[in-house]
Amino acid sequence: MTRTGRHFLQIPGPTNVPDRILRAMAAPTIDHRGPEFARLGLEVLEGIRAMFKTRGPVVMYPASGTGACEAALVNTLSAGDRVLIFETGWFSHIAWRQPAERLELNVEYVPGTWRRGASPEEIEARLSADKQHTIKAVVVVHNETSTGVTSRIAEIRRAMNRARHPALLLVDTVSSLASIDYCHDEWEVDVSAAGSQKGLMVPPGLSFNAISEKALAAGKTAKLPKAYWDWEPMLKNNQSGFFAYTPATNLLYGLREALNMLREEGLENVFRRHARHGEATRAAVRAWGLELVCEDPLEYSNSLSAVFTPDGHNADRLRDIILEHFDMSLGTGLGKLAGKAFRIGHLGAFNDLMLAGTLAGVEMGLRLAGVPYRQGGVMAALNTLTAVETATLVR
Ligand SMILES: Cc1ncc(COP(=O)(O)O)c(C=O)c1O
Repeated sequence: MTRTGRHFLQIPGPTNVPDRILRAMAAPTIDHRGPEFARLGLEVLEGIRAMFKTRGPVVMYPASGTGACEAALVNTLSAGDRVLIFETGWFSHIAWRQPAERLELNVEYVPGTWRRGASPEEIEARLSADKQHTIKAVVVVHNETSTGVTSRIAEIRRAMNRARHPALLLVDTVSSLASIDYCHDEWEVDVSAAGSQKGLMVPPGLSFNAISEKALAAGKTAKLPKAYWDWEPMLKNNQSGFFAYTPATNLLYGLREALNMLREEGLENVFRRHARHGEATRAAVRAWGLELVCEDPLEYSNSLSAVFTPDGHNADRLRDIILEHFDMSLGTGLGKLAGKAFRIGHLGAFNDLMLAGTLAGVEMGLRLAGVPYRQGGVMAALNTLTAVETATLVR
């Protein structure tokens, strides 16, 4: 089939890579031990800290997000350490529980429904009960990409402090960094793990650990074996802008441009843009009469929306029809949501008309797939977008 125009990549990451970033990457690869690289290295290592809202170090790996999650574990913990991992969906399992178990950590996987975030109350209760402080780390996915649910990390930190428990806080910000507000320092997160391919708008292949002083100190006694992921040689090399091994040079060109773009827009404006698009998408879902996976409005994700299809209507069939007819990719249902839900990514390089096109594709797809729905979702989204606009103009 001949395709015209641009493909709509509306999965919740990898996201659309802006032309500016593509062009920045289309440059000759340079000597990664030479002076030009050192300048690039220092620039991106400094710039990325603003994304995490941290003054501390950020280590970058030529790896996907899962690598950064593993790095967070192996640099801070020892075999047999007790860790609390909160079940929020597919990624709390695949990026955290499974690697942690394989690394022979003593994992307590706190059950969840996949419709809510990690509960601050539950965290406080569990930590308060651990009088001997045998729990070494609490692990939470900030924005669970399989469900469109955002856990409240600030409240979780407050709960941990109320329990006066010294456990480390490890947080996955893979699908929230540079799209939903995230404060590594203020929330006293010990290790934040992220990737390049979502809010940062860079292709897949870079991942990050923002590291607190407490995590660095824990690293001194952590005994899990590590080689590639070891922070120490990275931090040492990073001081002069270099890496412990060959970096993903051209992706770093892309990251430099992405940081410029995010700075130009202003990070708080980036968050507002995502919040607006999240709200408009949810207005469309409500108007269609469909149900969001996320149950709690306080935990709605602004970077993606996961939507149930009615019983008897396979969400992957709907996605296939939308891809075939409108050349748009939507996110599949993962794990126990396979076939039951689809995901609309509204993060990264994105604007009002792209959202309108995305939602129009979904609405037409619902019709073609014979899924029962009410018309008017796109209109509800447009009304939300223009209502917010009008309010701003009037003010
Ligand atoms: C929340 C979350 N954590 C971890 C990962 C794993 O990252 P990667 O697929 O880049 O290894 C993803 C990937 O989408 C994710 O969304």
